[in-house]
Amino acid sequence: MEPISAAVPPGWPAVTQDEAVFPTAARVAAALRTVGYLPDTAIASTVFLAGRLGKPVLVEGPAGTGKTELAKSVALATGARLIRLQCYEGLDEAKALYEWNYRKQLLRLQAAQGAASDAADEWGRLHDDLFGESFLLSRPLLEAIRAPEPVVLLIDEVDRLDVETEALLLEVLSDYQVSIPELGTVTASRIPRVFLTSNSSRELSEALKRRCLYLHLGYPTPEREREIVLARVPGIPEHLAGQIAQVVQTLRGLELRKRPSVSESLDWARTLLVLGVQDIEAGLLTDTMNVLLKNHHDIALAIKELAVPD
Ligand SMILES: Nc1ncnc2c1ncn2[C@@H]1O[C@H](COP(=O)(O)OP(=O)(O)OP(=O)(O)O)[C@@H](O)[C@H]1O
Ligand SMILES: [Mg+2]
Repeated sequence: MEPISAAVPPGWPAVTQDEAVFPTAARVAAALRTVGYLPDTAIASTVFLAGRLGKPVLVEGPAGTGKTELAKSVALATGARLIRLQCYEGLDEAKALYEWNYRKQLLRLQAAQGAASDAADEWGRLHDDLFGESFLLSRPLLEAIRAPEPVVLLIDEVDRLDVETEALLLEVLSDYQVSIPELGTVTASRIPRVFLTSNSSRELSEALKRRCLYLHLGYPTPEREREIVLARVPGIPEHLAGQIAQVVQTLRGLELRKRPSVSESLDWARTLLVLGVQDIEAGLLTDTMNVLLKNHHDIALAIKELAVPD
């Protein structure tokens, strides 16, 4: 594929990322490969464009398809620090953005009471002090905005957030800034690379999606899965990696409750390596099916459909 050209149209957001790191989509692909992540062309060009446009990437797809690993690999490939916000139901501003260090504030107050002086003046000074830098605890979003060095911000499993908490992300993702009422607005001096991942357990808001480039990560083709197995499982023979990819592909074509993901392919490859297997045979598939499928009915169905003798 022709590398996508790098020019950013006038009027688009200023980009502060180091263009030398990822000058073309092809170079993104090459850099990811060096850290063991095998991208397809859609992944490479989305990461490239996101860097150039200064936009977050929303990565959506089934479990175990490499969403989280993509962000980690971009951090590794660019030498950036990874800052991760693991989302869950009930996550609030204090855990995502910042909170005040109440204990320290209390100690400061007690110290001030001990040294009683001119009341009005002292209170003004004390208030500014209590809500100053040294009493602020940065949480992942603020930390990423304030970081002076290159960072990759991973907002993992964003679909687990409550809708109200999702709104907290909007200011960060569009303006790369955080408003702190007592302190003012903190704006990023360099735009972090941001990845949001989602398993599509619920529909995300239009406002959030509008701020992001969208990347769907489905199951890889057998050829790419073979390459992933070879990259991630050192020592696995090439022909065995090919057989693993083919079997997993066949299983994904069945009416299963939970299709095997890349994670399971890798676990299976490691299992076969430990067992010293050279070729996949029917009995072996039955014996190790529990590494690939995690549901009793799925295992029974797969054994029946693949006509594997008991
Ligand atoms: N393209 C790829 N290249 C290399 N390894 C990959 C690739 N895709 C997936 N993997 C491997 O698959 C495993 C699962 O990936 P990851 O944890 O990123 O999945 P996920 O999509 O975030 O899943 P979940 O939705 O369950 O969090 C990891 O071990 C990762 O290294
Ligand atoms: Mg993940």
